[in-house]
Amino acid sequence: MFKHSQASPISVVTGAAGFLGSHLTDRLLAEGHRVIGVDNFITGNVANIEHLAGNESFRFIKHDVSNFIYLPDDVDCVFHFASPASPIDYLEYPIQTLKVGSLGTHNTLGLAKDKRARYLIASTSECYGDPLEHPQKESYWGNVNPVGPRGCYDEAKRFAEAMTMAYHRTHGVDTKIVRIFNTYGPRMRLRDGRVVPAFIGQALTGKPLTIFGDGSQTRSFCYCSDLIDGIFRLSQSDFHEPVNIGNPHEMTIKQFGEAIIQHTGSSSKLEFRPLPQDDPKVRRPDITRAKTLLGWEPRVAFADGIVKTIEFFRGRVAAGDLVA
Ligand SMILES: NC(=O)c1ccc[n+]([C@@H]2O[C@H](COP(=O)([O-])OP(=O)(O)OC[C@H]3O[C@@H](n4cnc5c(N)ncnc54)[C@H](O)[C@@H]3O)[C@@H](O)[C@H]2O)c1
Repeated sequence: MFKHSQASPISVVTGAAGFLGSHLTDRLLAEGHRVIGVDNFITGNVANIEHLAGNESFRFIKHDVSNFIYLPDDVDCVFHFASPASPIDYLEYPIQTLKVGSLGTHNTLGLAKDKRARYLIASTSECYGDPLEHPQKESYWGNVNPVGPRGCYDEAKRFAEAMTMAYHRTHGVDTKIVRIFNTYGPRMRLRDGRVVPAFIGQALTGKPLTIFGDGSQTRSFCYCSDLIDGIFRLSQSDFHEPVNIGNPHEMTIKQFGEAIIQHTGSSSKLEFRPLPQDDPKVRRPDITRAKTLLGWEPRVAFADGIVKTIEFFRGRVAAGDLVA
């Protein structure tokens, strides 16, 4: 059991075996925290945390956080990152996604209240839906279709934000909300359906890069270490309203595909397919709030982040992982 000490805070990270949860865990350990990672592996991978085996500052609990969470330990911070996060995952697990965004958020807020811990929830730019305002500021309420196929994820996160603010206002829990925009980097899964692993996997195996629509829709991509730095800073702040963290550098999906072909040296071609329902046409964060409040802005150049990510996926392809 972890007990309080002045020197090393104790953090709970739900979704610790996932892409972002595992990078956050590494950062917290590097900052001198002790970390209790919680995950049920629904979309996570033990490989993301196996380097922590034997680390006395890290403990892992296999648990579904949509069920009640009991921990005997003292806790200083709760980071709620558990949730299927890619369209493929939340379309396969819509009910689990709604449950972890609602019941999981309620349970983790209850844990934070009980332990008098700080709380930070991983929300998403999907709260803005297919936005009618561009770029998206935190003050924008969004344009979400609650009954479309993506509604399970978008509405779960919107509910989670509302629940988080209710615990802050009613119980005085010291809460933070980060709205994460598209993030990429090592430890993503090749077949998670997001555009970064999909294109890199296709390029590395000489398959055509599948573009949905005409490729004119835009996205912005934040490298994982930049994102985690923004989240760590937010966790130290006294700000309770949502904060966008993401990279404002916008590119079209077609430009992104061409960049992947160039950086992998692949001979793959672009292939165009029909656009899925409710796919957002534009997406770019306004990060004025993060800059002003946290002194944060992304530092990793796209060319550097994408090369590191390609190297990671090269290893996964060589190890026999299947490509989208
Ligand atoms: N990666 C992004 O670009 C992005 C963008 C916006 C928001 N987010 C949010 O960040 C968080 C992490 O996303 P990610 O990209 O690392 O996804 P991921 O799928 O790699 O990680 C999510 C982790 O949560 C775990 N999990 C899911 N439901 C659980 C439950 N009920 N109990 C315990 N564990 C559970 C999964 O097994 C997985 O390890 C999510 O909340 C996601 O909504 C991510």
